[in-house]
Amino acid sequence: MEVKDYGDVAHYYDPAYAAKTDLQDVSFYVKQAKKYGGPVLEIACGTGRVLLEIAKLGLETTGVDFCEKFLEILRNKTQGENVSLHHADMRDFSLEKKFALVTIPFRPLQHMYTFEDQVKALTCARNHMADDGVLVFDVFYPLWHKILEDVNTEQLELEWQDPKNPQRTIKRSFIRTEANPFYQFFCGEFIFRTFENDQMIQEERSKLKMSFYTYPQMQALIKCCGFEIMEEYGSFDETPIADGPEMIFVVKKA
Ligand SMILES: C[S@@+](CC[C@H](N)C(=O)[O-])C[C@H]1O[C@@H](n2cnc3c(N)ncnc32)[C@H](O)[C@@H]1O
Repeated sequence: MEVKDYGDVAHYYDPAYAAKTDLQDVSFYVKQAKKYGGPVLEIACGTGRVLLEIAKLGLETTGVDFCEKFLEILRNKTQGENVSLHHADMRDFSLEKKFALVTIPFRPLQHMYTFEDQVKALTCARNHMADDGVLVFDVFYPLWHKILEDVNTEQLELEWQDPKNPQRTIKRSFIRTEANPFYQFFCGEFIFRTFENDQMIQEERSKLKMSFYTYPQMQALIKCCGFEIMEEYGSFDETPIADGPEMIFVVKKA
């Protein structure tokens, strides 16, 4: 299935997620890297929000993403020699190398919309794991009522100052345009509005499609792809998985 990359608004990624103070995943992934060691592969690494923090530990770190714009931003932030980057689709790549730790942080598996693509992505991750390697990834726990109820209601999510021009504020809203509970996906649009002295001077939109998973579905997918669950959490503070709001899995080869 065709998937869209988000390169058109890639320049907003770092400032937006720096403003998202409730996103506490980086220290969790850094902890996994300290525990399992390198080399580390991050699949769908984006602009390196997580990858660069792991590279700072001195571990050999590899990133893969299919969005060249994200990789370009990441390359410009890279200093050390211990980071290598590859432009590839997470469903189909081969690095001819095995990793002690493979990660897929911040929901890239929710960009896999069909069972076939989900299996391809997890199988590809597995193919890059050392025999005793570990895969860590997260998806969100779907609040069905919220996903279904708020269609066509624009929500202001994040707001930050333009790092290049402090007179400007950027506000990111999200509007869900479709929610499909049968096929378990929703579509929507991020709306980025730039304000200068309270006047809107620019509006940019970027479409988003995300799948979502139930817990039993995740268990079946993990098993079907040849993994065994070692640990599972409902938050990056390692609370029980049934408490949500995330579904975080640490798995090994079965
Ligand atoms: C929410 S971002 C997460 C980025 C990064 N892991 C982080 O934690 O900030 C989702 C990432 O998945 C990537 N992505 C989506 N579909 C992909 C695919 N088919 N192959 C490779 N990367 C993909 C996007 O380009 C984007 O960088």
